[in-house]
Amino acid sequence: MAKVNWGIIGCGNIAHTFAKSIAHCSDAQLIGVASTNSDRATSFAAQYDATGYESYQALAQCPNIDAIYIANTHDQHFNAIALCLTHNKHVLSEKPITVNAKQLQNLSELAKQQNCFLMEGVWMRFLPAIIKLQQLLSEGIIGKVHSVNANLSLPGSFVDTHRLMNPATAGGALLDLGIYPISIADVVFNKAPEQIKSLVHKSVTGVDERSVAIIDYGNGQFAQLSSALQQSGPTDALIYGEHGFIRLPEFVSAKRIELYINSQAAQQFDFDFNDDENFKFEIAHVTQCILQKQTQSSVLGLSTSLRVMNIMDSLRAQWQLQYSRNVESAELKIKK
Ligand SMILES: NC(=O)c1ccc[n+]([C@@H]2O[C@H](COP(=O)([O-])OP(=O)(O)OC[C@H]3O[C@@H](n4cnc5c(N)ncnc54)[C@H](OP(=O)(O)O)[C@@H]3O)[C@@H](O)[C@H]2O)c1
Repeated sequence: MAKVNWGIIGCGNIAHTFAKSIAHCSDAQLIGVASTNSDRATSFAAQYDATGYESYQALAQCPNIDAIYIANTHDQHFNAIALCLTHNKHVLSEKPITVNAKQLQNLSELAKQQNCFLMEGVWMRFLPAIIKLQQLLSEGIIGKVHSVNANLSLPGSFVDTHRLMNPATAGGALLDLGIYPISIADVVFNKAPEQIKSLVHKSVTGVDERSVAIIDYGNGQFAQLSSALQQSGPTDALIYGEHGFIRLPEFVSAKRIELYINSQAAQQFDFDFNDDENFKFEIAHVTQCILQKQTQSSVLGLSTSLRVMNIMDSLRAQWQLQYSRNVESAELKIKK
């Protein structure tokens, strides 16, 4: 395999970001897309010189496709991933990879059985600024990290039937936005928390519209995290340590690290790229993993996704927030 041939399931907003970014990856090409709406698949495919498929099944069965990017709503990720793995396709799924930890464990087993690559698409973790952040922290540049403070808000007004407000599509701020503040805390502390406390405000539709969480990572290390729909606000992440602090402006799409070490002039590290290239770091990484016949990423392995998912499960349990039964309980019998 000289190049990885990619397909996309779900032709919505984020699928365009993937399709634009893949054009910047030399070892990867987009060759097919599938939608529940065949007109949408056809017009999307025409924009990117790919083939449109009338169903997810038809794309998954296509022998020329090596890997599939899952870009539909949260409630559908489990079935779409299972379909692709069953047809021996490697999979990169948009976040959250599933709606709960049980489903993720189930799909991890399936991927192992099928000897296929599987990863959750948290593009932030592959950005050069985040890789540099990890390097600076491992060098102890601000000493022991004491706390992380991060928020992600999405302004706008969404009707009750919008996927973000709808429990049937596993909507709510946590799975769409809150996963990023949790992930940046996970990048910094790289371990499971000891204790989680939180408060939530639910929308009339019953999903979490906004919430705040305080996470205790033990050893005097804390994270203060929040996410909100229908709210605007700064999306900086702050990392406080014993010798200074780090600010990541717009941390989800981080292009800059600001480093403030006590009694020293501030330093800045810049990493420039265009919006059309947002996912190129993630796609290039996954493509290399597939070419090298790896079944998991060394940057974002399934156990790391599980650690983040366990936090989201705990928060939802505190909020008594369950999606519909068929969404929460989807499961595949794996032959041992
Ligand atoms: N990485 C990021 O920065 C980022 C940003 C935004 C979203 N996301 C993630 O990307 C995924 C898709 O988000 P998006 O913003 O692209 O969503 P979207 O444009 O609203 O929808 C994506 C696709 O999901 C299906 N869909 C949408 N609404 C539906 C509904 N009410 N019922 C059934 N199916 C529906 C459709 O698939 P078909 O075309 O097959 O009909 C649609 O094309 C989610 O997992 C989300 O969390 C990631």
